[in-house]
Amino acid sequence: MAAWSVRGKVDWRASVLKQTSHGAGDGLPDACGRVEMRTNMVARRTEEITPFLVMDVLERAHAMEQQGIDVIHLEVGEPDFGIPQCVKDAVCRALDDGQTHYTHSLGDMALREAICRYYRDRYGVSVHPDRVVVTSGTSPAMLLLFMALVEPGEEVILSDPHYACYPNFVRLVQGKAVTVPVYEEDGFQYRPEAIQAKLTSETKAVLINSPSNPTGNLLSESRMKQVAEFSPYIVSDEVYHGLVYEGREHSILEYTDHAFVLNGFSKLYAMTGLRLGYLIAPEPFIRPIQKLQQNLFICANSAVQKAGIVALQETGEDVARMKQVYNERRKYTIRRLRELGFGITVEPTGAFYVFVNAKHISQDSHKLAFDILEKAHVGVTPGIDFGQNGEGYLRFSYANSMENIREGLDRIEAYLRNL
Ligand SMILES: Cc1ncc(COP(=O)(O)O)c(C=O)c1O
Repeated sequence: MAAWSVRGKVDWRASVLKQTSHGAGDGLPDACGRVEMRTNMVARRTEEITPFLVMDVLERAHAMEQQGIDVIHLEVGEPDFGIPQCVKDAVCRALDDGQTHYTHSLGDMALREAICRYYRDRYGVSVHPDRVVVTSGTSPAMLLLFMALVEPGEEVILSDPHYACYPNFVRLVQGKAVTVPVYEEDGFQYRPEAIQAKLTSETKAVLINSPSNPTGNLLSESRMKQVAEFSPYIVSDEVYHGLVYEGREHSILEYTDHAFVLNGFSKLYAMTGLRLGYLIAPEPFIRPIQKLQQNLFICANSAVQKAGIVALQETGEDVARMKQVYNERRKYTIRRLRELGFGITVEPTGAFYVFVNAKHISQDSHKLAFDILEKAHVGVTPGIDFGQNGEGYLRFSYANSMENIREGLDRIEAYLRNL
């Protein structure tokens, strides 16, 4: 029994080494005939999952704050705004009305209809409510989608840099994440011909995310149209839709039905902690996804689903106000970062991120982010978190007050002077 128990704190790197090296912990007898089993019996699938480095920065920042150090957070990808009052009221009303039971596994029909109306009014596309699956955030929608779509060994094309969690979802379903580098000169947009060069008989999907995390850039309409013509499925993560300050975003459904849409309420409506999202899928996938949802999650939070209807229909003024504030911060952040010498070739026009070239300071973004945190007391996200091609970049989030952004950038200015 003792040999199988987890001894002390799990050290992932040590544990991986232990399982792959010869000798102690490999389950084979050593020179004296003793057998030592793997010290941690956590399934290997979790070892392939990479940590979210921004959380490492955040956790170190919290530890510093506990020591009384004042840290400015420009690393976090979460709106600093509270939820709109009408959404808060709707949650309370739903609780008062007894909306505390399971809902239909695909989601409350009134919410699914509201989502379809939203897509019709915003993008002119016709979606039947039966193609909508409501989930507890965009992340569970992503899990259900990849589970239903990707067979072991099949490939999913991602841009590099990309949202840090995408390859982990693909790995969890034993798929293969294939990356296509995107470049700052191009505003980090996909070049359709670069995608084409990576298509194989195993390619199941191409993932697009516009506006993008981490770059804040949009995929142009013409490029999106070209990508939509590729034969694998297109997975479009539209979670930053609505947060666009110049030009306009497009839904993949405007160009093809051979697509899945991921979306949620976390960003546009500042509802991160309420956990509400959805998936729009081609009809043949709905019943399989429904079975997964029933088994894995049963349904999304019932009271929050009611609030989701209100978010879609009644938050026009709240969203406009938040957008205006984000846009002011965006302009200020871009201007200051450029003055500080960071490279921004194409100005980001969406989400709440600026992804800057910091290669003139360091080629090691992880080291640089932690150095900035330790010396300037400002949290920023290392570009390597978002893929190999993100190395040498830093992501700044302007989902923080103007006062904090100004102070954070002043501190970085002083840090750079002392280098
Ligand atoms: C691109 C992207 N997709 C999905 C998510 C997950 O959002 P949710 O809170 O809805 O799970 C995030 C969160 O940061 C994101 O940046």
